[in-house]
Amino acid sequence: NTHTHTHTHLVLQNMTEQVKTSSVKKLLVLTVATEETDGFLRFMRSADYFNYTVKVLGMGEVWKGGDVGRSIGGGQKVRLLKNAMEALADQEDLVVLSVDSYDLIFAGGPEEILRKFQQANHKVLFAAEGLVWPDKQLADKYPLVRTGKRYLNSGGIIGYAPYINRIVSQWNLHDNDDDQLFYTKIYLDPLQRESLNMTLDHKCQIFQNLNGAVDEVLLKFGTDRVRVRNTAYDSLPVVVHGNGNTKMYLNYLANYVPNAWNYEHGCSHCDDDVVDFSQLKEYPNVLVGVFIEQPTPFLPEFFQRLLTLDYPKDKLKLFVHNNEVYHEKHIQRFWEENKNVLNSFKVVGPEENLSQGEARNMAMDLCRQDATCDYYFSIDSDVMLTNRQTLKLLIEQNRKIIGPLVTRHGKLWSNFWGALSLDGYYARSEDYVDIVQRKRVGVWNIPYMAHVYLVKGSALRNELKERNYFVLEKLDPDMALCRNARDMGVFMYITNRHEFGRLISTANYNISHYNNDLWQIFENPVDWKEKYIHSNYTRIFTDNYLEQPCPDVFWFAVFSEKACDELVEEMEHYGSWSGGKHQDKRIAGGYETVPTDDIHMKQIGFEKEWLHFIREFISPVTLKVFSGYYTKGYALMNFVVKYTPERQAYLRPHHDSSTFTINIALNNKGIDFQGGGCRFHRYNCSIESPRKGWSFMHPGRLTHLHEGLPTTGGTRYIAVSFIDP
Ligand SMILES: *[C@@H]1O[C@H](CO)[C@@H](O)[C@H](O)[C@H]1NC(C)=O
Ligand SMILES: *[C@@H]1O[C@H](CO)[C@@H](O)[C@H](O)[C@H]1NC(C)=O
Ligand SMILES: *[C@@H]1O[C@H](CO)[C@@H](O)[C@H](O)[C@H]1NC(C)=O
Ligand SMILES: *[C@@H]1O[C@H](CO)[C@@H](O)[C@H](O)[C@H]1NC(C)=O
Ligand SMILES: *[C@@H]1O[C@H](CO)[C@@H](O)[C@H](O)[C@H]1NC(C)=O
Ligand SMILES: *[C@@H]1O[C@H](CO)[C@@H](O)[C@H](O)[C@H]1NC(C)=O
Repeated sequence: NTHTHTHTHLVLQNMTEQVKTSSVKKLLVLTVATEETDGFLRFMRSADYFNYTVKVLGMGEVWKGGDVGRSIGGGQKVRLLKNAMEALADQEDLVVLSVDSYDLIFAGGPEEILRKFQQANHKVLFAAEGLVWPDKQLADKYPLVRTGKRYLNSGGIIGYAPYINRIVSQWNLHDNDDDQLFYTKIYLDPLQRESLNMTLDHKCQIFQNLNGAVDEVLLKFGTDRVRVRNTAYDSLPVVVHGNGNTKMYLNYLANYVPNAWNYEHGCSHCDDDVVDFSQLKEYPNVLVGVFIEQPTPFLPEFFQRLLTLDYPKDKLKLFVHNNEVYHEKHIQRFWEENKNVLNSFKVVGPEENLSQGEARNMAMDLCRQDATCDYYFSIDSDVMLTNRQTLKLLIEQNRKIIGPLVTRHGKLWSNFWGALSLDGYYARSEDYVDIVQRKRVGVWNIPYMAHVYLVKGSALRNELKERNYFVLEKLDPDMALCRNARDMGVFMYITNRHEFGRLISTANYNISHYNNDLWQIFENPVDWKEKYIHSNYTRIFTDNYLEQPCPDVFWFAVFSEKACDELVEEMEHYGSWSGGKHQDKRIAGGYETVPTDDIHMKQIGFEKEWLHFIREFISPVTLKVFSGYYTKGYALMNFVVKYTPERQAYLRPHHDSSTFTINIALNNKGIDFQGGGCRFHRYNCSIESPRKGWSFMHPGRLTHLHEGLPTTGGTRYIAVSFIDP
């Protein structure tokens, strides 16, 4: 011990030499930290930014000071400070600043602190707060203050070295005794208070404790610096301390302070310590955990997007927890197509009856136990990653836990919370909307995230080495993980530096149809459009991508292959074709002048969705080609017709009971059927090569008498609507 003591002595002497000769005169910061937590590293970054001279005491020591914040403790800090001060005791012009570091940042520089300290005109100044701790009975013994915080907080102390030394040299207690109580008793002794010339920083000139003061504090944005402003005393505190229950609020402030680490004008620190892929010999190994916890629309598309991530597939292992029998066929298909592509593939199915929390524990532990697992990437089936670079971009950011921002299309719903309520649930931070809408761009320290995130394997083997983080009280699994991470002091980040993708809605997903995604046009319109609308559809409007094969008969791409196939499958699955012999009387309010072998959209429960499709995707085309005609998109007759040589092969010439008609080919001439097409008599004009997914649009009555040309082989399907009858 003598050895360490002498060593500390020498080091501190050298440091004060440096302090004296640097531009920052006579201020030495002392802090106790036994581990390099994320909070500590952030403290050091903010100290470095302002060029503070910092001496860290106790690094690597076992912490015996108790669980400060939740119970008393912290004596070890005083012991270490006492040892350190012995070497500095005779330096009369040295100002020592003793601060906590796990939950504290600097908002200003050493010159400002020294100036404010001198203005305070005392030899020792303690931080103050409005709550008395740890002994409430001592409240009455405190001197009265007219305005300002009345009680001492030992998270920040500034004073001349000899005076600080005279305080801490009185320490003779245990490491787990309470440091704040120790300082409080000295301060409350009127004789010592006078002889040691002590006071509190009542009006937060230097120290801002956030506990009990969150409502007094605002961010003040300057041109190149962001400050914390205390609105109660109109002060700009230099040291900001997230004591008590305010660590998350400090994290929020520290997203901006000291110099707009994240801000709309740029993300000045986003590229600090990034992983440079060009310097890596090999890509890191990633275990991907996929969680299908409820029936989820567009699951095949989800897997497809996962597969198209720009990342070497042999570096990916896949773990899937599927809780739904309905999805087994999708996983089976994915597995058959990709079993040789990925490094490994493990599925835990519904028959295992594993709770969601247990499944998440299991997947995360697979990475933890595998020393070669560099990252664990957890993704729920409702996350549509549209950015192929997502995985690389997250790895680059080099954080223990980081998620990409994903939002519900057009909504403020996202996968993170900017703040927590006192009971640990959602609260909206002031910047939440700006982050979701990407008006502020950066990498944000946040208290809660879900659905998709990346965790470093090394963090799983160090800070987060327990097996169970997902099952905790009655919390849902992601809540539990985040609670645990917060309690361990592991920072969680969300990045919105890029667009990554969206969250789809799993609400109202009815899986009683054959192709259930067809019904998702209301709930998930973006994904519906991507899956079912022809990829060249928008070109109708941008580069006039449509044809007019006969007068006033327009021809354009509208359905994707999948839309055509699934609609046909849906009809065949339903199976009750009308036979084409009789008028179909089942259609209330409508009538069929020329009966076809058909199934109506109404019969498969698809009418509402179909009419919406007409309004969303057909109406704009109508407006373009029949300019000035605004369709109401109203239609009673919406059906799929089947032509086969055996049943009904053609349709005799007729008018439609519509203002205009659409007729979408649902399969391929030459492959699925022969013959077919449509002939318009008035113009002696036929279209004999219908294209799958393409629609005709023509006036229904008067001018466009037409007939369905005979299908000579196979089966031809078309979808027809008589619009605005
Ligand atoms: C810290 O010191 C460096 C080098 O002397 C200087 O460039 C920088 O401006 C200083 N930072 C602050 C915030 O004063
Ligand atoms: C405290 O010290 C300052 C000088 O640093 C002196 O002006 C002031 O009177 C002292 N206050 C008390 C109460 O002794
Ligand atoms: C599945 O697990 C739950 C609780 O974990 C239990 O109540 C239920 O009976 C189990 N079901 C089957 C089929 O094992
Ligand atoms: C799901 O669709 C079926 C078939 O159309 C229908 O009978 C059922 O009521 C729907 N369920 C819900 C919850 O909407
Ligand atoms: C879209 O149009 C381009 C150019 O005309 C064509 O090459 C491409 O195959 C079309 N896409 C589809 C899905 O038909
Ligand atoms: C219709 O067109 C075909 C060729 O396109 C032609 O042979 C035929 O004579 C035309 N019929 C009439 C009535 O114009």
